[in-house]
Amino acid sequence: MSVEKNDRRNFIGMSFGAVAAVGGIFSLVALKKTWDPLPSVKAAGFTTVDLSPIKDGELYQVEWRKKPIFILKKTADMKNDAKRDVVVGGARYTVCIGLCTHLGCIPSYKGGQFVCACHGGIFDVSGNNIFGPPPRPLDIPPFKIDGTKLVLGETGPEYEKLVSQA
Ligand code: FES
Repeated sequence: MSVEKNDRRNFIGMSFGAVAAVGGIFSLVALKKTWDPLPSVKAAGFTTVDLSPIKDGELYQVEWRKKPIFILKKTADMKNDAKRDVVVGGARYTVCIGLCTHLGCIPSYKGGQFVCACHGGIFDVSGNNIFGPPPRPLDIPPFKIDGTKLVLGETGPEYEKLVSQA
């Protein structure tokens, strides 16, 4: 074997090793990011949401403890629900865990209802089960009201009141 061929082989070998090493480092960084809890989870599992920028009729979605949380600001023509509405500054909100109470699919919000594509379950604008297999309304996560902010993961009097009425 000539010296030139040997050099080329060494160069290709070293290049391949370098690419593999860089790829490995990127994979480790990506894995760490996946495993790391969100900053909000790090803060004892609380997630704070400022409700003031949410517009009438808008569905806002956040993640709390790896679960989707739906926050819908009701419009004036949407039916009130004293047992489920979260009232902040005169506005009414539907706040619920966005997991179907049948088998846990994530419903989508369509035409003023939460529709679960998995088995056709339907929840009304307040999260009450109104059609199909879901056995109960969408669950309300523990929350506390702090001014215009909703603190998910803490139990405040507003949450206690809703739970006692359910
Ligand atoms: S999981 Fe939603 S209807 Fe079955």
